Amino acid sequence: MISLPRALYIHIPWCIRKCPYCDFNSHEQANPDFAGYGRALVRDLNADLERYGSIPFVSLFFGGGTPSLFPPQYLEPLFQRLRDLDLISDHTEITLEANPGTLDRGHLSGYRNLGINRLSIGVQSFNEEVLKELGRIHDKDQAVAMIEHAKAIGFDRLNVDLMHGTPGQTPLIAQEDLNIIRNLEVSHLSWYQLTIEPNTAFYSKPPTLPEEDSLEVTEEMGSEIINAMGLEHYEVSAFAKSGEEARHNLNYWEFGDYLGIGAGAHGKITTERGVVRTQRTRQPSNYLSRTNFHATEHPLSDGHLGAECLMNGLRLKSGISYACFQERTGLDPIEFRAAHLIEADRLQLLNPGRFQASELGWRHLNRILEMLI
Ligand SMILES: C[S@@+](CC[C@H](N)C(=O)[O-])C[C@H]1O[C@@H](n2cnc3c(N)ncnc32)[C@H](O)[C@@H]1O
Ligand code: SF4
Repeated sequence: MISLPRALYIHIPWCIRKCPYCDFNSHEQANPDFAGYGRALVRDLNADLERYGSIPFVSLFFGGGTPSLFPPQYLEPLFQRLRDLDLISDHTEITLEANPGTLDRGHLSGYRNLGINRLSIGVQSFNEEVLKELGRIHDKDQAVAMIEHAKAIGFDRLNVDLMHGTPGQTPLIAQEDLNIIRNLEVSHLSWYQLTIEPNTAFYSKPPTLPEEDSLEVTEEMGSEIINAMGLEHYEVSAFAKSGEEARHNLNYWEFGDYLGIGAGAHGKITTERGVVRTQRTRQPSNYLSRTNFHATEHPLSDGHLGAECLMNGLRLKSGISYACFQERTGLDPIEFRAAHLIEADRLQLLNPGRFQASELGWRHLNRILEMLI
């Protein structure tokens, strides 16, 4: 059986305050049981390794929630276990999501000592009014301070998350946000357009959003500024210096395997029984009280497999090769293409043997994706 590259996602489910746009599995809780959670993660990992085998991870990603709330010492048992089993090395990309409102907790050096070598900082905007509209717990100065401090202590692989199309944002504000990023010289930028998700405060009480025209101006101007920073637009919302692409996310987009541990975490694994998705219980209290960590498994049918692989691969500007599609789904790409009536003008074969969206198709990717489902 083919063994695909495999990553590990670790979910940390707590936040100081829930943001009104956020539908991630994140919970406000005073004094979470970090020590107990750190031990539970080791038991959870062990259960997955027993079921799916131990092969080294290409990357680790601590996502949230707010992983930067987590005291580094309680992650030591997890790192110890991963090192004992040779599942990570000094070359493994290990990312942790950090919220600038947690800088005062002084955890960053501890993360570096553990072997975490990349930070993804959730800034969203540097504009004080926009930050208030987004319910963020930090201001501009804290965001700049976290980026500068992270660089000063040796995190040279840094991603910053910014959002556009948010309440209160004008093209000028978006431009100012990007100019601050240019001066801070980060190697990776995720520039997301705000989406209003069900089960969020913004969904129940919609805010006033910028008009379509203003969004278009922002997008065009934004692409130019980001280009001028020397960051390449390699995925719908991701920009990086050459060689600084997020390896963990590339593994998702190229439909590699990943184990997902922690409350509410998802995994995707290729097994002898086919490709399965796994999901952990979402509530941190349920997760912490578990004695059996075997995740719920859902098999993926052939139709879903092909569509999911393509939906991920097309997010990349370079698309996904037929060879990769075939390896990761077991399906014939030519037959798949014919069966799904994929329009040739939207999916160009710029390089023979690849599924790749045209420039126009890429900008309207959601419409292409709708045709697949
Ligand atoms: C799980 S959050 C983690 C970062 C960290 N918790 C924080 O907010 O600082 C990952 C990123 O997704 C983006 N995001 C979350 N909800 C979004 C939404 N509804 N629309 C667009 N981007 C969103 C934000 O940029 C956020 O930083
Ligand atoms: S801090 Fe991040 S994960 Fe937490 S609620 Fe806000 S956006 Fe969501």
